[in-house]
Amino acid sequence: MKITVLNGSPRKMNTTFMVDAFVKGAEEAGHTVEVIQVGKMKIAGCLACEYCHGKGEGQCVQKDDMEKVIPALQDCDMLVFASPIYYFGMTAQISAAIQRMYSVLKPAKATKAAILLSSLSPNVYVGAFGTYKGILGFTGIEDAGIFTAKDPENSTEDLAKTIYDFAKGL
Ligand SMILES: Cc1cc2nc3c(=O)[nH]c(=O)nc-3n(C[C@H](O)[C@H](O)[C@H](O)COP(=O)(O)O)c2cc1C
Repeated sequence: MKITVLNGSPRKMNTTFMVDAFVKGAEEAGHTVEVIQVGKMKIAGCLACEYCHGKGEGQCVQKDDMEKVIPALQDCDMLVFASPIYYFGMTAQISAAIQRMYSVLKPAKATKAAILLSSLSPNVYVGAFGTYKGILGFTGIEDAGIFTAKDPENSTEDLAKTIYDFAKGL
């Protein structure tokens, strides 16, 4: 399988720890994984101009880093969302990337998805879960796994093993 991971963290810490465990397991299982660091990219919010659904024929009128994300979204069999929790949701950076998917509406081939979320506190995932489950409902993509880590679970070997085992079993 080709797997695209969108990492919404702007720094290389807890979320990236989860992503690394995922990548290790998935690659060992023979999958090809592309991690896109959307947390460090410049992706503007959607302008709702509808250029993409008219004259643009699927292309966004805005020329920014989303141009690097769309091909990986369109070409993957599995899509993984990874993000720290910022005020009960995913980061603004990954949220912008998700909303800019509007130009193509749905990833063309993906049939599976997973989500990796890191937070400080417990029970703070409502916004991120809502977005994730909404995307799955809209696209028909099947959930393969939901992983959350709060302090002090972040960056522990137990967490890495759980995610690694999941990815290796894909
Ligand atoms: C702007 C901002 C907002 C945050 N909001 C929350 C929150 O609502 N709930 C929570 O538990 N943690 C919150 N956190 C903490 C992060 O989710 C947590 O530290 C996470 O492990 C960071 O992941 P990272 O190391 O990949 O950046 C927030 C952190 C930042 C910087």
